[in-house]
Amino acid sequence: MTHRILFVCLGNICRSPTAEAVTRAKAAARGMDVILDSAGTGDWHIGKPPYGPMQEAARAKGYDLSSLRARQVSRSDFTEYDLIVVMDDDNAANLAALGPADRVALFTQYAQDSGADHVPDPYFTRDFDGALALIEHCADGLLDALERPARQD
Ligand code: 4NP
Repeated sequence: MTHRILFVCLGNICRSPTAEAVTRAKAAARGMDVILDSAGTGDWHIGKPPYGPMQEAARAKGYDLSSLRARQVSRSDFTEYDLIVVMDDDNAANLAALGPADRVALFTQYAQDSGADHVPDPYFTRDFDGALALIEHCADGLLDALERPARQD
């Protein structure tokens, strides 16, 4: 089964492109079939590559974000993706006007042992390594959750 997942944050230049690239690499390592993309609720960075310091932190851990380009989330994303994974409650609130909330999940819900209830925005905190580590943890939990129903078949 192919899972179609869209990652959403505010600007689509830090957290969600990192989530996309990290989840893509981890899914490939597990042999899982996924279609992934990312988008922002805001429109400031449309067409831009991920933020330089975020790219550097990701590259140091083996993730190449350089080919990604920011875009804004749209209503059609709710039909094109099975699941829309957001980084914080503000992202979810901003999506409420575009489609049903039952298609939207908070990334940190897949890493409850982390104690985090959102992925802090490194554009403001400047903690790019911390954001990356939490995103890696959430991606592992998300892929575990996607694999689990298949094992019960
Ligand atoms: P992101 O971070 O939502 O993780 O991509 C942001 C990057 C830029 C801005 C906001 C958030 N900005 O306001 O320009």
